[in-house]
Amino acid sequence: MAGYIMAIDQGTTSSRAIIFNHQGVPVQQHQQEITQFYPQDGWVEHDPEEIWQSVLATCRGALALAKLKAEDITAIGITNQRETTVVWDRDTGLPIHKAIVWQDRRTANYCEQIKQQGQEERVSAKTGLLIDPYFSATKIRWLLDNVEGAREKAEQGKLVFGTIDTFLLWRLTGGASHKTDATNASRTMLFNIHTQRWDQELLQLFNIPAQMLPEVMDCSADFGECDRSLFGATIPVTAIAGDQQAALFGQACFHSGMAKSTYGTGCFLIQNTGNQAVKSKHRLLTTVGYRLNGEVTYAIEGSIFIAGAAIQWLRDGIRLIPHASVTEALAKEAEESHGVFMVPAFTGLGAPYWDPNARGAIMGLTRDTGIAEIVAAGLQSVCYQTRDLLEAMTADGAEKPSAIRVDGGMVVNNWLMQFLANILDVQVDRAAIPETTALGVAYLAGLYTGLFKDLEQLESLWRSDKAFEVQMQRERREELYKGWLDAVERVKTPAL
Ligand code: G3P
Repeated sequence: MAGYIMAIDQGTTSSRAIIFNHQGVPVQQHQQEITQFYPQDGWVEHDPEEIWQSVLATCRGALALAKLKAEDITAIGITNQRETTVVWDRDTGLPIHKAIVWQDRRTANYCEQIKQQGQEERVSAKTGLLIDPYFSATKIRWLLDNVEGAREKAEQGKLVFGTIDTFLLWRLTGGASHKTDATNASRTMLFNIHTQRWDQELLQLFNIPAQMLPEVMDCSADFGECDRSLFGATIPVTAIAGDQQAALFGQACFHSGMAKSTYGTGCFLIQNTGNQAVKSKHRLLTTVGYRLNGEVTYAIEGSIFIAGAAIQWLRDGIRLIPHASVTEALAKEAEESHGVFMVPAFTGLGAPYWDPNARGAIMGLTRDTGIAEIVAAGLQSVCYQTRDLLEAMTADGAEKPSAIRVDGGMVVNNWLMQFLANILDVQVDRAAIPETTALGVAYLAGLYTGLFKDLEQLESLWRSDKAFEVQMQRERREELYKGWLDAVERVKTPAL
């Protein structure tokens, strides 16, 4: 019964294993939440052992639920929360510290220092990124400088670095494979996206020994074999891609100009720019969209740190709502012109502001403001932030897309999708298969084994579940957006 692909989707809040058939249809899945650690203001950590155990459990769980054996799985693909940094011991495989999560801001001061030294231009020209704690480089440096004995061991070649994909691959292959793919590498701030190599000058700048780094592969490649003891038989790992790039692939955005936006913990709007690494003048990121047969497809990306996490905060942080599913009904109840704006800058502001020290705020409260208005403002903040990104992309010369393909946990909310179309003034196409990230890496894995033929075939498999058309007058849209921009101005760090 071979012919299935198992996608491992290790995200910021949970780990999932999804089994897809040869037509890209999910047949079974298993999911487990992972613990978030917040040891200090602006710090976010994960336990790599917990991540590994959750991945193992979900893979085994999905196989059992699907009543399949390891022999039925043609290949595994790994997609992952990007940038999150793990350093572990080459001999024991044990991490030297918790993983430093992409949202973590502990290296903000150091980033500011190197910016002051005038390094941003050089770093950006090579990596397509901006100097920000978001990316892995300064997180690795922090680990080497703050964990006792780490720098010395790293210099002796005893420690290795990986983003979550690499750490999982290492564990899956019993330490036999230390590899990553070009999309994950492109988020470390150590990888030259033009030459497709680790960059010696950047390694020197951040003081990171080259021998710690994994080998960089295409997204579809031979990454190694899973250890037989894990699932009862070996399974090849034939794809790796960072989760946002995997979603771009799963949404079949294969042509220059096509864009997708994923609403998970954060929100990531990515537009395919073909074989051109377009340099943004508006603080967006240039990144590797995917790399197949050594050929790079570039993309431009706007990253927002808090999207679904804003709703999570309303639920768990201030306990305003019992469950995310109630937000749609509540938002419908809210006064249309409620005037409340929520800027969820809990871990600073991402693109296009890049202000790590900004903090969140809720503004425009009156005696009439109730839970419904605050919830609506939380949902709307996600749409306004997407508009910020789209504004920056078009200001960079990108053509405004005729439609945006959306996916991720939040897109089930119809009110949110309609407001998104209204505020963007662009049609929003919701993908029929919401698990686009996992689907994307399953496609990549299946391309390598021949289960899927080519991109044309994958394109023909894409389906929309619902299209949201623009239903708001221009004047109203611009008035609301102006209110948002004003709210953002109030939370930004004054000097910026
Ligand atoms: O860059 C961070 C991103 O990859 C995290 O994605 O889906 O875990 O919020 P997600």
